[in-house]
Amino acid sequence: MVYFQPSERVKQLPVNFFDQLDNKLAESEDAGKPFINLSKGNPDLPTPSHIVESLKTAVDKPENQAYPPFLGKENVRLAIADFYKKEYGVTLDPLNEVAVFHGAHIGITGIPQVLLNPGDYMLITDPCYPIYYSSAILSQARTYSMPLTESNQFLPDYSRISADVLKKVRLLLLNYPNNPTGALATEAFYQETIEFAKAHNIPVLNDFAYASLGFDHNKPLSLLQTKDAKSVGVEVYTMSKTYDMAGWRFGFAVGNASIIQALNHFHMHAYSTVFGAVQDAAACALQSSQKCAADIVAVYQRRRHVLIDGLRRIGWNVVPPSGTFFAWLKVPDGYDSQSLSDLLFDRAHIVVAPGIGFGKNGRRFVRISLVSSEEVLAEAVDRIEELHLFE
Ligand SMILES: Cc1ncc(COP(=O)(O)O)c(C=O)c1O
Repeated sequence: MVYFQPSERVKQLPVNFFDQLDNKLAESEDAGKPFINLSKGNPDLPTPSHIVESLKTAVDKPENQAYPPFLGKENVRLAIADFYKKEYGVTLDPLNEVAVFHGAHIGITGIPQVLLNPGDYMLITDPCYPIYYSSAILSQARTYSMPLTESNQFLPDYSRISADVLKKVRLLLLNYPNNPTGALATEAFYQETIEFAKAHNIPVLNDFAYASLGFDHNKPLSLLQTKDAKSVGVEVYTMSKTYDMAGWRFGFAVGNASIIQALNHFHMHAYSTVFGAVQDAAACALQSSQKCAADIVAVYQRRRHVLIDGLRRIGWNVVPPSGTFFAWLKVPDGYDSQSLSDLLFDRAHIVVAPGIGFGKNGRRFVRISLVSSEEVLAEAVDRIEELHLFE
């Protein structure tokens, strides 16, 4: 075999930080040790049955066996506009303010590529979903990280960005509800964001992947609910978490028409269309009763209770997440994210995500996901208790 060098751009893409953890786990499992893996964000519940049934019907339709329209089927674009109206009171033009694609991943890697030129800055947060770094590399752009700390409720402080950087910023990328911190954005924060973006002529992208996952009846806000948001803002939504449809690969972007137009143009060249039957099933999910989405949140809320109350009972003074299906837990004194993760791995056979994998501000945290049953989470608490870390 002749070895062909990948392009410089591909060489720059980092190896996934969590790959090494997966490899270590695979090796240990091969050795027969039973592990509890709480490091992942892959929803474990089945897709609601009415959505599965709608896919089955849609597969039989000859129109779905041919190429779908480039810009997505009209029914799904109408369903998206209708959904945003009902859920958030936001009016969207289904043709010019909606783009559909294979999951949020395409939107969050695509929008930076359609807006940024080499050397431009993209504002991201530290910690953040690691794919944002990859999306900057694919755009040949630079990132500037705004720290997320407990003391600012894990919301960035725009006043701390240096004037030099600000001049070169061409995209602000946010993610609320936030992975990994579990924080929600407030109305005041979004207002400040839109004012800041307008003042500096910066487009804003909110990755709304955990849109439905707010606890204690706190419904997460859409960025587009903010006054004037569409003048600078766009939001990416996915079916993966709201309806447990992660394997189906369907997401969409809504908002600023110029960004949607550029994304559609790029998408037509870079990717293909989404299977028409999946679009029909997505339309069904968005247009049917949203009780299934509320039921999913209720499951995570019960799991959150088991985990957080359990950890507090054994002496770990943790703060519950406000949204998402992740708990962002400060490590006890004497540990950092890596040493605690290693200890839990080696001595309790529990896999958690070390916070450092999400940025340097994650160095004192670990991320535990709620995509395991209450029984498994309770068992994890029992195993941690046996380590006597908090005595
Ligand atoms: C913050 C965030 N954005 C986007 C995604 C990807 O979503 P999708 O399944 O729609 O590609 C994830 C998946 O875990 C995520 O955590």
